[in-house]
Amino acid sequence: MKEKKILVTGGAGFIGGNFVQYMVEKYPEYDVFNLDNLTYAGDLTKHSLIEMKNNYNFIKADIVDDRLIMSIFEKEKFNYVVHFAAESHVDRSITNPGIFVQTNVIGTQVLLEAAKRVGITKFVHISTDEVYGELDFDPTTFFIEETPLKPNSPYSASKASSDLLVRAYHETYGLPINITRCSNNYGPFHFPEKLIPLTISRVLTDEKVPVYGEGQNIRDWLHVFDHCAAIDLVLHKGVNGEIYNIGGHNERTNLEVVRTIIQALGKSEELIEFVEDRLGHDKRYAIDSAKLKQLGWKPSYTFETGIIQTVQWYVENEVWWKQIINGQYLTYFNKQYSL
Ligand code: NAD
Ligand code: TYD
Repeated sequence: MKEKKILVTGGAGFIGGNFVQYMVEKYPEYDVFNLDNLTYAGDLTKHSLIEMKNNYNFIKADIVDDRLIMSIFEKEKFNYVVHFAAESHVDRSITNPGIFVQTNVIGTQVLLEAAKRVGITKFVHISTDEVYGELDFDPTTFFIEETPLKPNSPYSASKASSDLLVRAYHETYGLPINITRCSNNYGPFHFPEKLIPLTISRVLTDEKVPVYGEGQNIRDWLHVFDHCAAIDLVLHKGVNGEIYNIGGHNERTNLEVVRTIIQALGKSEELIEFVEDRLGHDKRYAIDSAKLKQLGWKPSYTFETGIIQTVQWYVENEVWWKQIINGQYLTYFNKQYSL
C-alpha cells in the first residue's frame, strides 16, 4: 500500500504523459493512475520505460462517462487529482467545436462531482493562458491571474468554461482546488499537429512548413519539464482556491520559432510556406508568473536551451513520431491544409 494515490487524467497525451513520467520517477511512494480514453492524441508507447514500475497504473476511461468515473473514484479513493484530459488543438476546435464542449466542459464537471463525492485532498485543474484571450504587441503587457477571461476560440472558450466550473465547486462546496494557466508548451512527445513538433518533423523529412498569415503572431514558450515541476509545486504547496499562471518569458513570433528550428537542423528557409491565416488567430500571449515564483518555482530552460534539447529528442526518437504520423493523422493534415 502506497502513501498516496494520485489520479492523472490525460496521462497518455503530451503534457499529462510527461507529468506521469515525472511523478512515477520522483515519488515511488505514490501510486500514480493514468486515466485516458486514448483519443487520436493519446498514446501509451511513450510509457514503455515506466509501465512495469509498481507505482504506475493505467485505466482506460472516458471522463464524460459519469457512472464509470464515479465507480472508479469510489473504488480507488484518490488523494489527488491532476486533470489534463482535454481536446487541446485550436485548429480542430474551429472545424469541430462540439467535442470540445463534451470533453473539456462536461468531462471536467463529471470529475469535479466524483472528487466532491469521495472527498479528495487536492484537485489541480490544468488550464491555459488562452482563456485570457489575446494581447496586442505592446511588450510591456502580460496576462496576470486577475486578467478578465475573454476566450476567442472554441478551444479556449471550453477551457474557460471548465475553469469557471472548477472555481464554482470550490466556492459552493469547498472542494480544495487549484487552477494553473500555462503558456504554450514544447518538448518530448509533443503531438506533431502543433507548431513546434510539426515544424521539426517536416523539416527532418524535407517537407514544407505551413506558417499562418505572415508568421508574426507571438507565443510564450515553456519547456514541458518546467511545466511539470510547476504543477508538482502547486499540487503540494498551492493555496486552496488559488489560480497560478505559469510561463517563462520566452516570447517569439512563429516565424522566429520556425527559423530557429530550420537553422538548428541545418536546412533551408525555402521550406517555409506562408498559408492562409487561422480564423480568429490570437495575436499575442505573454504570461506574468510572479505569483508562482513567490511559491518557489523558476524555469530551468531558456527557449534557446529547450529548443535544442527538443530538436535533438525528435532526431533521436524518429520511431515514435513516425508511428504517430499514420493514416488518421495524414487525413487530418491534408484536410487542414487543403492539400
Ligand atoms: P494532448 O492533446 O496532447 O493530450 C490530451 C490527452 O487527453 C490525450 O491523451 C487524450 O487521449 C486524452 N483525452 C481526450 N479526451 C478524453 C476523454 N474524454 N477522456 C479521457 N481522456 C481524454 O494535450 P496536451 O497538449 O498534453 O494538453 C494537456 C492539458 O494541458 C490540456 O488540458 C490543455 O488545455 C492544457 N494546456 C496545454 C498547453 C499546450 O501548449 N499543449 C498549454 C497550456 C495548457
Ligand atoms: P499551436 O501549436 O496550434 O498552439 P496554439 O494555437 O494553442 O497557440 O500554434 C502555435 C502558433 O503557431 C499559433 O500562432 C498558430 C501557429 N501555427 C502556424 O503558423 N502553422 C501551423 O501549421 C500551426 C499548427 C500553427
